[in-house]
Amino acid sequence: MNRWTKVIGTGGYLPPIIRTNDDISSMVDTSDSWIYERTGIKSRRIAGPEETASSMAEIAARQAIDMAGIAATDIDMIIVATGTPERVYPSTACLLQERLGIKHAVGFDIQAACSGSVYGLSIADQYIKTGFANNVLVVGSEICSRIVDWSDRSTCILFGDGAGAILLTAGTEPGILSTHIHSDGGYEDLLYCPNPQVAAEAKQHELAFISMRGNEVFKVAVNTLGRIVDETLAANGLQQSDIDWLVPHQANTRIIAATAKKLGMSMDQVILTLENQGNTSSASVLLAFNEGVRDGRIQGGQTVLMEAFGAGFTWGSVLLRY
Ligand code: ACO
Repeated sequence: MNRWTKVIGTGGYLPPIIRTNDDISSMVDTSDSWIYERTGIKSRRIAGPEETASSMAEIAARQAIDMAGIAATDIDMIIVATGTPERVYPSTACLLQERLGIKHAVGFDIQAACSGSVYGLSIADQYIKTGFANNVLVVGSEICSRIVDWSDRSTCILFGDGAGAILLTAGTEPGILSTHIHSDGGYEDLLYCPNPQVAAEAKQHELAFISMRGNEVFKVAVNTLGRIVDETLAANGLQQSDIDWLVPHQANTRIIAATAKKLGMSMDQVILTLENQGNTSSASVLLAFNEGVRDGRIQGGQTVLMEAFGAGFTWGSVLLRY
């Protein structure tokens, strides 16, 4: 009998502090209309001083566990995607494991920038299908506000903080239909964030802020996401019209609209969260999926396409039957 990966729980956490475009307009030379027209973003959430990637991950994870109706101790693998861990080590996954009181599991972090949760779902799917793991928790948790240069108007308008979680289990019905992940390390200069304490000498003067050539990233993102849509449909022998929902990484409404157009989908079939969340990097796909599930738009039996693109470049997709 085939072994499939099924979604049994979702969760999401957004910190309470709201930073609007008008707030940012008082910090740098920009305006609400410029930001909204170019990105689709109106406001984003900012983590409080006490919050960390693992504290936010815990809140999202507990929601997913509650929805699944299993005990936290039934989880045998924890995968956390984050570019903003509070420790170099232990991993955020180990910190989360301790917070959840799970003694017997394996936990590890992955780093794939904004594609992190799609990578995490792909890894979880492999471990479940091979029988190595039965219940896998995947979390994307990010405090982007702490690696954003709030004096750089080209990046500070884009990012926000939050955590999204998903709980997966082994089942006999689909499930995750396919996952597709890729990277190309040739684009470091277009989008990066240095680690000044451990970077090579030549880079030590740099601060740990996101640096992005947004216009060039934009063009590669649109083309690459178009290709991943084709790859995913072809791998499953599906037509565009077979997809009920697009759950994209939330970087820019214009990038998302281009992908929806490629799929022949109306924007009503896209779960959009970036207007009030901004780009939460690895958390964004899981936050959007959680929102679509919890507000009843994504229904059991429907086919959902998740996709993401981020620094590296990394990109990928997950096709699943909910
Ligand atoms: N307010 C007003 N003007 C601005 C702002 C701002 N916040 N930011 C830039 N400008 C100016 C620029 O200085 C430039 O002025 P100039 O023509 O006088 O030189 C002008 O606006 C146009 O700048 P562009 O960078 O060409 O603007 P663009 O239309 O490309 O929009 C944006 C910028 C929104 C960043 C867009 O390029 C984008 O969304 N890129 C993709 C981001 C993305 O997908 N990132 C990947 C994921 S992130 C991750 O993985 C960590």
